[in-house]
Amino acid sequence: MSDKKTDGLALDAKKAGERVGLTSDEIIINGGKPLRGRIEVRGAKNLATKAMVAALLGHKQSVLRDVPNISDVRVVAGLLALHGVLITRGENDEWILDPSNVEKAHKADIDAHAGSSRIPILFCGPLLHRLGEAFIPDLGGCRIGDRPIDFHLDALRKFGAVVDKQSGGISLTAPNGLRGANIELPYPSVGATEQVLLTGVLAEGHTELRNAAIEPEIIDLICILQKMGAIINVEPNRVIFIEGVKELGGYDHRAIADRNEAASWASAALATNGDIFVGGARQEELMTFLNVYRKVGGEFEVHDDGIRFWRKEGDLNPVTIETDVHPGFMTDWQQPLVVALTQAPGVSTIHETVYENRFGFTDALNQMGADIVVHKSGLEDERRRVKRREFEQAAVITGPTPLHGADIEVPDLRGGFSHLIAALTASGQSKVSNIGIIARGYENFIDKLRKLGADFIYEG
Ligand code: EPZ
Repeated sequence: MSDKKTDGLALDAKKAGERVGLTSDEIIINGGKPLRGRIEVRGAKNLATKAMVAALLGHKQSVLRDVPNISDVRVVAGLLALHGVLITRGENDEWILDPSNVEKAHKADIDAHAGSSRIPILFCGPLLHRLGEAFIPDLGGCRIGDRPIDFHLDALRKFGAVVDKQSGGISLTAPNGLRGANIELPYPSVGATEQVLLTGVLAEGHTELRNAAIEPEIIDLICILQKMGAIINVEPNRVIFIEGVKELGGYDHRAIADRNEAASWASAALATNGDIFVGGARQEELMTFLNVYRKVGGEFEVHDDGIRFWRKEGDLNPVTIETDVHPGFMTDWQQPLVVALTQAPGVSTIHETVYENRFGFTDALNQMGADIVVHKSGLEDERRRVKRREFEQAAVITGPTPLHGADIEVPDLRGGFSHLIAALTASGQSKVSNIGIIARGYENFIDKLRKLGADFIYEG
């Protein structure tokens, strides 16, 4: 994080000789000021972390470019280093991963390192291929649902892995090696698709995966594996065929830009009536978001090096959104957008169909004056999308409701960014705590807020 900076209110406090005395996990925001300027987004959190795990599969070094400086990346780097991967940084800030000496790690060290990430589950296939065994600690990740790993474990068993649940995690072995499998996912799970990809590429024989996720980050991971020597066919209708190969080399890859971060800053421009150029943002991965953005009352301009986002003249418009798998409206896009919807005259509805508990962040918005009603089991008149669970949620947002400052606490990554946007939009002062979670997925967000002219105090 940046060094001590004072803005806005802090100057008064300083003049008065007061200590503001914030912890490094808190920020005081004076809202009501439009965010204006240019910021850059780099590699996607949800690709870079998986690309780093993929390097384990190769017998040559890999180079990953545009890696964001976020804590989820540091957690994965720590786990790779624990397993003997040598990680160095190139002169252009690229990550160089050398998997020549992959070795077992101590369970206690793995557990201590896994932190709040869910990525460790993707180490299963690569470690089984390299070492014949793996220990994966109980997973962290945002509390947005129970987030089971049954699809992952079912797939690994089909490849021939033996899964032993232990206290604190799971131990896996592959007594007869890993063989290609026919797998159909109950739901197009991103993580489970990545699990099958990272295991199937070196498994003996063919793997067929049905009902696969095809998010842009998945396709980028497939490009990385293909660069390493894998043979993967993405067929129509969410089917992926993998022909197992004997060995894989390394890759040199520039990570796809983070579309979730781009959508978050775009939502900040909309809610604060600002004008933000998001360098690195690409239209192709954001098309569904851009359509909704325009319908709500945002405007955008696509350039070769990024996208400019601002709010059109006049009122915002309420919308109905149903989150879905790609190319639908991404579940990670709804939290930041909700703040602007609280400012739109009329009733907006968000049907959250991917996670069963992803509206926790709306409590803080209601505390600030919003009118959001969460329907825990969705709206009865809506088609259930996630057949596997009877859960789906809906949030009904009635606006416009002016927001006033409040003391709020970040609940999860995307909800946390929504809290920042709410504080920036509200009149008066807010104190947002537990902001360390935001650093898991938003690179240098404090510096970016400063570049965009936000009025805040941060002493981290
Ligand atoms: C990835 O999570 C992303 N995280 C999420 O982003 C994203 O929201 C999600 O994909 C959907 O696009 C990373 O890539 C690190 P899933 P993942 O498996 O892979 C259920 C962010 O903010 N499920 O597609 O964990 C699951 O509970 C994060 O960057 C099972 O039931 O998502 C959920 O309801 C949040 N069993 C649904 O499927 C399983 O074995 C979709 O989950 C696996 C998943």
